[in-house]
Amino acid sequence: MPSTDFLVIGSGIAGLTFALKAAEHGKVTIVTKKDDTESNTNYAQGGVAAVFGSDDGLEDHIRDTIEGGAGLCNPEAVRAMVSEGPALVQELSQMGVGFTMNTQGGLDLGKEGGHSKRRIVHAKDYTGFEIERALVAKTRGHSNITVLEHHLAIDLITDRQGERISCLGAYVLDTRNGEIEGHSAGITFLATGGGGQVYLHTTNPAIATGDGIAMAYRAGATIANMEFVQFHPTTLYQSSFEENERSFLISEAVRGEGGVLCDKSGRRFMSGYHPKADLAPRDVVARAIDSELKASGEICAFLDISSIGQDKFQKRFPNIFQGCQQRVIDLSRGLIPVVPAAHYLCGGVRTDLWGRSDIKRLYSAGETACTGAHGANRLASNSLLEALVFAARAAQASSDELKSPDNIQPWDYVGSVQSRERVVVSHNLHAVRLLMWNYVGIVRSDTRLAMAKKRLQAIAGEIRDYYWKYRVTADLVELRNLVSLAGLIIDCADSRQESRGLHYTQDHSERDDRHFRRDTLINSGRINLS
Ligand code: FAD
Ligand code: SIN
Repeated sequence: MPSTDFLVIGSGIAGLTFALKAAEHGKVTIVTKKDDTESNTNYAQGGVAAVFGSDDGLEDHIRDTIEGGAGLCNPEAVRAMVSEGPALVQELSQMGVGFTMNTQGGLDLGKEGGHSKRRIVHAKDYTGFEIERALVAKTRGHSNITVLEHHLAIDLITDRQGERISCLGAYVLDTRNGEIEGHSAGITFLATGGGGQVYLHTTNPAIATGDGIAMAYRAGATIANMEFVQFHPTTLYQSSFEENERSFLISEAVRGEGGVLCDKSGRRFMSGYHPKADLAPRDVVARAIDSELKASGEICAFLDISSIGQDKFQKRFPNIFQGCQQRVIDLSRGLIPVVPAAHYLCGGVRTDLWGRSDIKRLYSAGETACTGAHGANRLASNSLLEALVFAARAAQASSDELKSPDNIQPWDYVGSVQSRERVVVSHNLHAVRLLMWNYVGIVRSDTRLAMAKKRLQAIAGEIRDYYWKYRVTADLVELRNLVSLAGLIIDCADSRQESRGLHYTQDHSERDDRHFRRDTLINSGRINLS
């Protein structure tokens, strides 16, 4: 049975950062369910927010983040993220990440919503690709790191002694031969990213099925703030979509450079919604577009990029320019058709400031985790930053806790045969994604949440029976996790009877600090407002 000091699940910015730091203290095995580069990280456009500007300061970034988080940020987490971020960005630069430089030889700093200063460090509009490329290159050659691609973690292995749960590793499916092996580990680090695939329209690639959160929840970890799902305001509107096609992102940095939202007659509408107009926080912009579309009956809004000019646009945003061309969008009129789509999960496995979950020897960081740094709404480009900082912290803290791997039981295949009813998976996958999009989206209501809950329970029952009857496959594991994720989002949303940050419900449209200025915690089906 394979065993290692550190088992890292996921190879995005969080997993790879953790792996490189942990490898200074022991042997690391990374399991990742597709190719090692495939991750949300790989598609990040805008950049990493970090204080480098001469007119900027840590306190400014802290203030902006806390203001964006609508009363729920953990100030200590924000301070750690903002103050430790710049050094880690410099480490990336030294590792070979080609950040865009300005004419004076310093980092070129972009601007995005909610940030009062220019502080977005970027590699044109393919920042995530550049970061992922450099991190993967460094891990591939590392003598203490083994990377297992096409290995999908399906469940954590735990040991329960009364109230105390410890993580001993994970069961992992080799998706190329269908074998499942137990991997025992001194420390297990969950970095499986977010779960945008739970919605029909999302910027997230197919890997984002919330596996880590669902696994941790099943194992008994506390999950926090799942109602706070971020919808990105501007993804390219396309009249036809393949079921699993990712919505193509039009970075917020485009608005930072002068792009303005308007309707099809050219009417600019954002100044009617927020004093910061097009650079208001994302929840405000996404809801404004949703409200404009509901009122007018139109299918999309437009991003007017004419003030940027086509040449500059093409130079500054080559990835977006090419993406539009590939999708036959005519940019000569300076108008990009846009709609919101699910983008980022603020909630996740609750961790302390060192990435510790409440299961012993189980750590997490990145989009899987909830450190409290984003509160009820994440500011643009604070996600890569958070992943970097807390993955590095988790590597430091967990190396102090490192112990020898324990003996574990092999996976039990008994009673599982190949299914001849694959339609159960494809049908229910579509049903969950559609249900979440229509009933648990940008604007919620008590009635729709109650209906979603009822329908999801029926689907969950079907999937539970199916899961234990047939041989485990990757798509079934992911569907099971998406159903758990949907249930967690619905339960948390249902318990927050107010509107705050990314959670907006028309039945309780005001913020209620007296009752709800607190995290939503859920453990083994029990909701708690901490
Ligand atoms: P990911 O990068 O998603 O990595 C998760 C890894 O886990 C992947 O390797 C995946 O294959 C693996 N995995 C998942 N499940 C399993 C399993 N069961 N077993 C094994 N492996 C598994 N944030 C910013 O700060 N700035 C930006 O400019 C920005 N732009 C974005 C643009 C887009 C289009 C998207 C989708 C997101 C953007 N974000 C941005 C958000 C940011 O990219 C992510 O939050 C961040 O990259 C998450 O990093 P991560 O390491 O936590 O997860
Ligand atoms: C974007 O480029 O608009 C995405 C930035 C982010 O999600 O932080």
